[in-house]
Amino acid sequence: MSACLILAIESSCDETAASVVRDGREVLSNTIYSQIDLHTLYGGVVPEIASRKHIDKINYVIETALKEAGVTLDDINVVAVTYGPGLVGPLLVGLSAAKAIAWAKNKPLVGVNHIMGHISANYLEHPELEPAFGSLVVSGGHTHLINVNSYTSVEVIGRTYDDAAGEAFDKVARAIGLGYPGGPKIDKAAKEGNPKAIDFPRGKVDGSEYDFSFSGLKSAVLNYLNKAAMKNEEISIPDVAASFQAAVVDVLVDRAVRCVREYNMKSFALAGGVASNSALRASLEEAMKKEGVKFYVPSPILCTDNAAMIGAAGYYAYMDGKRDDLGLNAIANLRL
Ligand code: KG4
Ligand code: ZN
Repeated sequence: MSACLILAIESSCDETAASVVRDGREVLSNTIYSQIDLHTLYGGVVPEIASRKHIDKINYVIETALKEAGVTLDDINVVAVTYGPGLVGPLLVGLSAAKAIAWAKNKPLVGVNHIMGHISANYLEHPELEPAFGSLVVSGGHTHLINVNSYTSVEVIGRTYDDAAGEAFDKVARAIGLGYPGGPKIDKAAKEGNPKAIDFPRGKVDGSEYDFSFSGLKSAVLNYLNKAAMKNEEISIPDVAASFQAAVVDVLVDRAVRCVREYNMKSFALAGGVASNSALRASLEEAMKKEGVKFYVPSPILCTDNAAMIGAAGYYAYMDGKRDDLGLNAIANLRL
């Protein structure tokens, strides 16, 4: 069988991205235009500004991805695009571009769930990884423990009751004056700090072994900062960053380990923007080694939002027979 070339498009948040992926496993190009600098001015993603910037950049990233892969639209077999979850305006930009190409070039269109994309990033760098396996998806909007039954069917075992892990990183970073985006800045500051300096709570959800709650931790950090300010005490930003990060990592690793034990999983894959966190990667790798479970995580560039992961997920959806028509709409709260 000849190769299947997917043109993938991703615009669900603040990255405008396009990629060409061969047979769901091989990245021929991975173009990402990050809007982070623009949104840093406002301390977070401004949806309307993101939509406009996506419009500015979408054709540029698609053309660049095709050029870098050394192909033209005529060589493409399938157009895959994120249609949710995410910000509806930004999603519509990528979706409209994908539909226009699919229509003009008469190519099949496949809508992809962004979370399935994050999980599938692991297929791009780990040729031996095949379902079934467990997965922890931690991003700015999601914290999910998942049983990946097949390439196209997953079962959510645990989720956050309030903030997502990345959201907690971003909010705490803002509170300690590190700015946006918080995750990478806390990761860096924590390297100079003591993770045992402050004993922040490890959030639990009553009666649920696999769910997460990060709002109590976030409040504990804010209380700590307020108390210090009232007493005129100086705080150590690296210590707060390291202690907060340790609390998040402990909880994530604890739930993941429970999950592999209970479900007797043989492999476990970490995914999502927070999967680029150095402490989480190291702790989870060590914990899975102890459990005798094979551990996978993509390179940081494939953890944060990109279109290559959408190409991987889109390939398997296409092989499973998924086809969308031009009526496909963006779904901001699309579930797994
Ligand atoms: O997956 P992603 O790029 O976008 C969403 O789908 O949300 O994830 C972005 C999130 C942000 O909250 C960001 O602060 C966090 O991932 N993040 C990190 C790191 N790099 C990005 N969190 C912790 N440590 C990092 N190194
Ligand atoms: Zn994402």
